Amino acid sequence: MEKEKTQDSITADSISERIRVMNARVDGLKEQDLYFYNQPITELRGGSRVLVNGREMGMYASYSYLGLVGHPKINAAAHQAIDRYGTGTHGVRSLAGTLMVHRELEETIASFKGAEAAITYTSGYATNLTVVSTLVGRGDYVISDKLNHASIVDGCLMSGAKFVRFRHNDMQALEERLQHVESGATKLVIADSVFSMDGDIIDFPKLVELCRRYDAWLMIDEAHSLGVLGKTGRGIEEHFGLEGSIDIKMGTLSKTIPSVGGYVAGKKDLIQYLRHASRAYIFSAALPPASAAAAKASFEVILEEPWRVEKLNKNSKQFIQGLKERGFDTLFTETAIVPVICGTDEAAFSMTRAAQHKDTFVLPVVSPAVPPGLSRLRATVTAAHEADEIEKAMDVIYNAGKEIGMVN
Ligand SMILES: Cc1ncc(COP(=O)(O)O)c(C=O)c1O
Repeated sequence: MEKEKTQDSITADSISERIRVMNARVDGLKEQDLYFYNQPITELRGGSRVLVNGREMGMYASYSYLGLVGHPKINAAAHQAIDRYGTGTHGVRSLAGTLMVHRELEETIASFKGAEAAITYTSGYATNLTVVSTLVGRGDYVISDKLNHASIVDGCLMSGAKFVRFRHNDMQALEERLQHVESGATKLVIADSVFSMDGDIIDFPKLVELCRRYDAWLMIDEAHSLGVLGKTGRGIEEHFGLEGSIDIKMGTLSKTIPSVGGYVAGKKDLIQYLRHASRAYIFSAALPPASAAAAKASFEVILEEPWRVEKLNKNSKQFIQGLKERGFDTLFTETAIVPVICGTDEAAFSMTRAAQHKDTFVLPVVSPAVPPGLSRLRATVTAAHEADEIEKAMDVIYNAGKEIGMVN
């Protein structure tokens, strides 16, 4: 009894300590006007501007890569779904939660991704967690790029499989890992297509070749390539002309697709298995009808308005090139996610403050989300921006960099 009490108080103390340390950091930043997280946007102003704290700002931190947030067709689809089905569902998908709009959405995703079938979940995070931990387990190997998203890492840890990581985007390192797998063991290789903090693209042709050669399953997270890569925005397979190379095509409905949720597309037997074995499908309520309908309409808009993918590519090139010319290190990005390396956390916070005071909405990403010394602005462009707006935003970022002595 006495021992239990001591154990309890140790647990309580470490919890208190974690809370204290984090809150001290947050409060310290707030006191110095360096805290810019969790600010509520009160209104959309067109595709590229938002109202924050009563001020209209250019949005350079959005995941809405094709500028589809607020698109009239997508909004109308959400309204119609509420009128038809209400705001919620009757429960989990397997029991009374499935609506016709879920089925239509999954068919739309499968067709867009060139797959036999698709399954949806209520978030991208839950999708990775549940899919990885359902597909592999004890005795299997899951091999993951070191910069893969946290939801993949958590899925790998939860699975109980041997969790092996390889140096970021280093295919030689991946091959070495594959060579060291016990013979006969099942292998699942997982990578982001576009890395969420760096904007660079996985060496997909080599990755596919290695998975084939070493008989490994391949899962790719297309959170940041859906609508971004490929002539028609279909993603990384289209970008490299390697259609049909991915076994488990994962993506989110919360970035280019202005809704919420996650999906996996693949072979019919895989999808049917996940419908009956993945816990986030079986034990969590279905995607709300408005979100499902908005997501479905978004895939249609991507195909109906191909200029958006083209414009996003053009804007990304302008943004990357312009920031480089202004003296910033943007790592190896080739996409709409442009890291502006600041170095220390403090430099990233100060840059954010200077930019936001000039009505340019960028946000910092600091350690431990990125390695120490590589704190940054994680700036993004979308298809909704015009060339002159992008120039102005880059000037603001440049002046912010000058103010703190990062560029000359
Ligand atoms: C690569 C990647 N995968 C998965 C997720 C999780 O998706 P969601 O935000 O839809 O839960 C994210 C979100 O940031 C992501 O960047």
